[in-house]
Amino acid sequence: MPTRLTVNGLDRETTAAPDKPLLWVLRDEFRLTGTKYGCGVAQCGACTVLVNGVAQRSCMTPVGSLADAEVTTIEGVSGPEAAAVQAAWIALEVPQCGYCQSGQVMTATALLRDVPSPSDDQILRAMDGNLCRCVTYPRIRAAVRQAAAGLEA
Ligand code: FES
Repeated sequence: MPTRLTVNGLDRETTAAPDKPLLWVLRDEFRLTGTKYGCGVAQCGACTVLVNGVAQRSCMTPVGSLADAEVTTIEGVSGPEAAAVQAAWIALEVPQCGYCQSGQVMTATALLRDVPSPSDDQILRAMDGNLCRCVTYPRIRAAVRQAAAGLEA
């Protein structure tokens, strides 16, 4: 039986096996390749998407569990928090190689939707599970702070 879900505001359907990870349905079937494969075991955050507004690792999310869910990927994320995050990312030139950055942006956006003015500790804890092999962590944290400040202005 196909799984029907919403991806970036569009009704989508997949006949993939229910235990197939969302990541591969997004990338291989829907051609949304902004979501990256990192570790495959939900430990690095490169594959982070929003499921019903909550940051979730798509590499360990069976697509069959997503009937009627709303999935948002880096290609479709929008709204004031996403705009503030993207503007700060550009202004502070956060990415280095860039591989982890769609996951970083998704997690930061989810954080600011939940906590518009996060403390440094809240930023640290929220971003803790998103690894960056280029070690851009100081710029990531600065950009989240700048995005939060932009939302307050
Ligand atoms: Fe290279 Fe994060 S920018 S892994």
